[in-house]
Amino acid sequence: MNETVEMIIDGKPLVLPTVTGSEGEVGIDISSLRNKTGCITLDPAYGNTGACESAVTFIDGELGILRYRGYDIAELAEKSTFIETSYLIIYGELPTRAQLTEFSNLLSENQMLHEGMRFHFEGFPSTAHPMAILSSMINAASSYHPNIISKREERFPYHAARLISQVRTIAAFSYRKAHGLPAIYPKSNLKYTANFLHMMFSLPNEDCELKPEIVKALDLIFLLHADHEQNCSTSTVRMVASSKANLFASAAAGVCALWGPLHGGANQAVLEMLEEIHQEGDDGSKFLNEVKNKIGNRKLMGFGHRVYKNFDPRAVIIKNQCDKVLAQLHKSDPLLDIAKKLEEIALNDDYFISRKLYPNVDFYSGIIMRAIGIPLDMFTVMFAIGRMPGWIANYKEVMEDPDGRIARPRQIYTGPTQRSYAALETR
Ligand code: ACO
Repeated sequence: MNETVEMIIDGKPLVLPTVTGSEGEVGIDISSLRNKTGCITLDPAYGNTGACESAVTFIDGELGILRYRGYDIAELAEKSTFIETSYLIIYGELPTRAQLTEFSNLLSENQMLHEGMRFHFEGFPSTAHPMAILSSMINAASSYHPNIISKREERFPYHAARLISQVRTIAAFSYRKAHGLPAIYPKSNLKYTANFLHMMFSLPNEDCELKPEIVKALDLIFLLHADHEQNCSTSTVRMVASSKANLFASAAAGVCALWGPLHGGANQAVLEMLEEIHQEGDDGSKFLNEVKNKIGNRKLMGFGHRVYKNFDPRAVIIKNQCDKVLAQLHKSDPLLDIAKKLEEIALNDDYFISRKLYPNVDFYSGIIMRAIGIPLDMFTVMFAIGRMPGWIANYKEVMEDPDGRIARPRQIYTGPTQRSYAALETR
């Protein structure tokens, strides 16, 4: 495409520059539009709006491509680990052995929470959703390390490591709190994902068995969620970071955005949907009829994506892993059978075909987590742990952008035009 585009606005020609990304996608740079024409663009839900330039993740939704820093998700899923991939996402290159050791050591050194945080956990009722605890506690953690707020740039590697490491400790503690169990502290000889499972499932007097296939499956779930360009929560993190808020405050906002059932909350919503179908004795066909006829505005949770219009590459990987985990654990799950049936019907049904609705990553991840023993209300927390490196990398980009300005969209006002105040007795 040309380096400029010409358009006619209100009868007058306007030339605007274009920006071409490294994979050839083109954006029209409209940053001078309002100055030149007095108009703004209107794009609710931002389906046509590039809010930034970013070098972290590339997605081609039509071709089902997802790459972190140029590396294909399938290759990373096969050969890498969540921690190595986290380094790649945050710092741009795969680490050398020395860099990986240094990064892992930094994570281990920062895995303990300040003991004062225990009192915050005590304040939550046992009914608190772990996502509420997670976002509050990430913010609370910053108050125990004041230099997260004051010396941000020079201490970035420490803050990033502290956040990646502590989010896992906070997540496990919130599970233990919600289930009335004593907190289990991390062990320095365990790797990231194994340590998380230890904190979740060990007892003070007995360590849980850490089956390698389970550790690997959960590590894979974290890796597949590690970044996904400008989704709702990452855009939230960038928005908050643009005001120069600190890393922990920005990440806590990301957790809140992720919580909703149309975003990270979908993995919980998928399992709830499958359980409901199972309890009703339906094989999925009755439910799908309700979805297609928009009865009760129901959706097939775990299907559809704003960007992927062909297939979600993460869903393909996770579906294979799901079969493997259940086979290795010698488990069968009636919900998996329902999920497969729903998928089979939907992929051959014109309603879903014509709207380009395919299974997304959440459709099968919940079944793996259920098999591992992760409770339903922790599913979105697992997503948040996985997404942390992506949020951190995007935060870093915002902070390092020399031309960065505070994010501040405009609007088209549709309320009343100017009117005079009416005294109470005349209304
Ligand atoms: N089930 C049934 N119909 C659907 C679904 C679904 N899961 N998703 C979209 N549609 C329909 C819409 O009703 C709409 O139909 P219409 O043209 O008759 O009005 C059409 O498909 C277009 O849908 P939109 O809502 O415009 O799609 P959008 O891009 O805004 O939404 C989203 C994407 C939020 C993911 C949507 O597909 C959805 O709600 N899916 C279910 C929730 C889910 O799985 N979310 C996880 C997303 S992935 C992630 O965050 C990891």
